Amino acid sequence: MSYNLLKGKRGIIFGALDENSIAWKTAERVHEEGGSFVLTNAPIAMRMGSINQLAEKTNSQIIPADATKVEDLENLVDKAQEILGGKLDFVLHSIGMSVNVRKGNHYTDMNYDFTTKGWDVSAVSFHKTMQALYKKDAMNEWGSIVALTYMAAQRVFPDYNDMADNKAYLESIARSFGYFFGKDKKVRVNTISQSPTPTTAGQGVKGFDGFIAYAEKMSPLGNATAIDCANYTISLFSDLTKRVTLQNLYNDGGFSNMGVSQQVMETFTKDMD
Ligand code: NAI
Repeated sequence: MSYNLLKGKRGIIFGALDENSIAWKTAERVHEEGGSFVLTNAPIAMRMGSINQLAEKTNSQIIPADATKVEDLENLVDKAQEILGGKLDFVLHSIGMSVNVRKGNHYTDMNYDFTTKGWDVSAVSFHKTMQALYKKDAMNEWGSIVALTYMAAQRVFPDYNDMADNKAYLESIARSFGYFFGKDKKVRVNTISQSPTPTTAGQGVKGFDGFIAYAEKMSPLGNATAIDCANYTISLFSDLTKRVTLQNLYNDGGFSNMGVSQQVMETFTKDMD
């Protein structure tokens, strides 16, 4: 259903790799709500993914940018404004990657070059993006910037590995930069902490199937899907949430406030019988 919540708004959407990506679903929903945007991803991801189909479907242009490279981001911010015809109202940062996870390195046996690469891609890229937007004064007043995160930033999920630390860093950047963006430009900055979701990045986490099934059983409303996440993001891009900022907002079916659920308890009592 469309409510025209983003009519006339312009933005940038990072991180649509394929149709499972949270950013992909968000781009589709933003388009339905009347927003226009530029799509971006790392040049290498573009060769692997199918972003052209999304661009066609949503009448949008693609500007490649490696989110760890300041010059790519500055070019992206300039070009996006040229293409869209003015300053921006929304930005979605939907980027995450850990080389230690990819290579199967245990948390207690990290390669620190990989660790550095991982926090640059997953966390510092958010600072770099916001700094490019801030310095170029590219956001309209009452604009909205959102990044996606996971609850391993607050609680222990052993197999989430160094992505837990990267997400804690990302959430802190959202607050710290959000202060200056709010004070100086009247722009809000938030993170959405999403349920486990079957995407390329999600499925890279060891034991993902168990992880997602457990979260489903723990959450009174069940896991939030990629579309649920897209809808929540739309609300944060809209004018209905103008003074929500510096927040880490859970979109997780209630998981983050649970201790244990009956369904999970039953699995254990069954084992005891
Ligand atoms: P995805 O694999 O579809 O998206 C990750 C994106 O990051 C890809 O498009 C990839 O090309 C991009 N990326 C990687 N390195 C990049 C770079 N140097 N420059 C620009 N882009 C780069 O997976 P998903 O799940 O849609 O991930 C989106 C966000 O949601 C990530 O921040 C992820 O950590 C977060 N998230 C995902 C959850 C899940 O279970 N799937 C749960 C909670 C948060």
